[in-house]
Amino acid sequence: MYYPEELVEEIRSKNDIVDVIGSYVHLTKKGANHMACCPFHNEKTPSFSVSQSKQLFYCFGCGKGGNVFTFLMQYENYSFLEALRTLADRAHVELPQMEYSEEARRAADLKAQLLAVNKEAAKYYFYQLKSERGQAAMKYLKDRAMTDETIRHFGLGFSNKTPDDLYKYLKSLGYEDAVLRGAGLISMEEAKGVYDKFWNRVMYPIMDVNNRVIAFGGRVLGAGEPKYLNSPETPIFEKSRNLYGLNFARGSRKNYFLLCEGYMDVISLHQAGFTNAVASLGTSLTTQHARILARYTKEVLLTYDSDGAGVKAALRAIPLLKEAGICARIVDMRPYKDPDEFIRALGPQEYQKRIDTAQNSFFYEIDILQRDYDLSDPEQKTRFYNEMARRLLGFSEELERNNYTEALAQKYMISYESLRKLVNRHGIQQETVKVADETVLREREETRKKAKPQEGMRRSQRLLLTRLCEEPAAFGRIDGIVGPEDFTEEFYHDVAVMVFEEYQKNGSVNPAKLINRFEDAEKQQAAAELFSTKLAAPMDEEGRKKEFSDTVMRVKQNSLDVQYARAVEQNDFKALQQIIEKRGELGKLHSSLNLG
Ligand code: UTP
Ligand code: MN
Repeated sequence: MYYPEELVEEIRSKNDIVDVIGSYVHLTKKGANHMACCPFHNEKTPSFSVSQSKQLFYCFGCGKGGNVFTFLMQYENYSFLEALRTLADRAHVELPQMEYSEEARRAADLKAQLLAVNKEAAKYYFYQLKSERGQAAMKYLKDRAMTDETIRHFGLGFSNKTPDDLYKYLKSLGYEDAVLRGAGLISMEEAKGVYDKFWNRVMYPIMDVNNRVIAFGGRVLGAGEPKYLNSPETPIFEKSRNLYGLNFARGSRKNYFLLCEGYMDVISLHQAGFTNAVASLGTSLTTQHARILARYTKEVLLTYDSDGAGVKAALRAIPLLKEAGICARIVDMRPYKDPDEFIRALGPQEYQKRIDTAQNSFFYEIDILQRDYDLSDPEQKTRFYNEMARRLLGFSEELERNNYTEALAQKYMISYESLRKLVNRHGIQQETVKVADETVLREREETRKKAKPQEGMRRSQRLLLTRLCEEPAAFGRIDGIVGPEDFTEEFYHDVAVMVFEEYQKNGSVNPAKLINRFEDAEKQQAAAELFSTKLAAPMDEEGRKKEFSDTVMRVKQNSLDVQYARAVEQNDFKALQQIIEKRGELGKLHSSLNLG
């Protein structure tokens, strides 16, 4: 499954990061870097930087970063291989047939095995559904108006009544217990032995954006508890990041998404032609979900259950979506409970009408708010208007605020002038509160800083690694003083080992190339952050020298402290002796560094 490292590096080096990112985002050159408003979060002043010399991007606002592969993986939601193929194409590099390289790491192997076993399980469940034994399940789905085409499209299946059917089958294919258990497909207990997790249920394979089966949901046929059973989280399945149906919805070409609550809602909507529907499964919407959605669309229509829980979930989702830069509207499905029931009762045309008249999320929030007040009671009415005014202050843009004020005034029968006055009065109050709040926040920030010497330490280690990449000559100055073993943070240590190795081999360090070695986008991002650490303030040559020697000293000092603590813990007196000696030499080192 893996291409050789040299080829990956060749493709990377033939795709200049400034050109590639520049074709997606408008970049402006500023000093050594190119800057833009970050495509991964909502901002007005640019904090997204692209470095031509390092061939890295990094956003100082949201922390996203990496090399040219990482960018495509995050921007296009590509897997590494998809990014590699795209860039190979772009640079006219021919990819050889897939080969297994030495570097195929164990973690990747495990993931590949989990994906493979899930795929086999999905095929098995699908086959069971079509067989004699799956008749009841098939009837259940037909009763719910699922067509054969839909069943095939979503790969629906059935898990038998036999307790270890799937287990035996997958064992016969040669999968090991550890993998089956890792995939969450079987359970092992001393008393009961081995048994399948899913048993006599309709099975819904959960797919990632690349159509790979990463987990399952299983529904009881009819009534029963629990209604749905889901795979546990595994190395390939993270609930807070996965949206059911996204593999299909991403290609729907509509400029908005429908967000619903359940498997059946997504499936019914797709079957009715609304192929832009997705759901967060068995968990409420998270910030990560919202960010993922933001990559594909700027507008989301919430089509959550019309019951109390659904309203609550919608009220929670709205600010998360807003935060991610998504505008939310709410589809009213009353008197039906969810999209599945609505469509079954009234059909797609009626549903489309509800989409067309979906309510702006702010009006929706005010509507829900209003339910708590009895407007025939003057006192409650006053309190409602006051709360409404407070919420209107959420719009910082004056024109927008006035427009909403006008609309609400009309809707809730209060004169525009009175409502506006009320808004302004609350505005003045809030200003006063804000000033007080800011003082509190500042104080809190300061205590936080004091309580976290760790972060300062980590920053020093990052700064040192960044400097070593920017100025290979710096390696000479720290020779014999600081080595990879002095980076105490585990991840930094791993990176430091690579950095020093790379320098020894080539006399310089190419951070973008090192990033190739990390499998997942998160690690790549962390590495990019590490190589993009900025000095606190711009400095002249003298200042930079001093900053450098201070940083080296801090890193060394900390490393000795950690070693010291370890030696004390292990009662290793010989080591203690050596550490104390080294500490004594620190002063000398400092002056020699300053001369360098
Ligand atoms: P609902 O109870 O609204 O299910 O839960 P639904 O999709 O309408 O189910 P049907 O129509 O009765 O078949 C919404 C979602 O919450 C998760 C599932 O992902 C479900 O689709 N859920 C619900 C669970 O994970 N476990 C449960 O026991 C119930
Ligand atoms: Mn339902």
